[in-house]
Amino acid sequence: MTLSSPLALWSSFGLERRRHLQLAAIGLTVSWALAVLLACSTTNAQLALYQQLGGPAGIAAITDRTLDRVSTDPRSSRSFDGIKMATLKKSLAAYICKVADGPCVYEGETMAHAHAQSNISGAEFDIMVTVLREELDRAGVSEAAKNELLRRLAPTRRDIVVKS
Ligand code: HEM
Repeated sequence: MTLSSPLALWSSFGLERRRHLQLAAIGLTVSWALAVLLACSTTNAQLALYQQLGGPAGIAAITDRTLDRVSTDPRSSRSFDGIKMATLKKSLAAYICKVADGPCVYEGETMAHAHAQSNISGAEFDIMVTVLREELDRAGVSEAAKNELLRRLAPTRRDIVVKS
């Protein structure tokens, strides 16, 4: 018997052997699919935090919207009276990008210095964090990346808030 084609070769196998080969093929396909899925999920976690936040431009969009909201919200707007918002926006975006391990240069003050004159309350701080959280959600940032950024910002509370 000559086995000139793959089909002829396949037909020459017994039923049992064909079953085994079919099972092996299914097993290989499933493991390959799982490996691809695993690779995709770890790739995202391996991105630097600033990349998971949308890169410098994505971060600037999030911080700009946050500042637009807190500076016009009657519960937190008073501190922003007379502040040059365009300059503050650039500074906050660079600060957050740097906190998130991004390639940005932050040349502003320490958090304690920057807020020393503003008498910021715990409630005002919490409003800003809530708005930032909402804007991170709106931008489609993952839960893990959002929580990591907020975890890194949490220690600034003790430098920024002067009354509770
Ligand atoms: C996670 C919380 C906060 C972060 C990370 C943050 C970050 C910053 C940064 C990076 C600057 C610029 C400093 C500079 O360029 O020298 C700044 C300034 C400022 N922040 Fe915040 N801030 C936070 C909370 C708040 C809150 C809650 C308020 C008020 C409700 C506030 C009001 C201001 C004001 C008014 C300035 C300008 C100060 C000035 O130019 O005299 N910040 N902040």
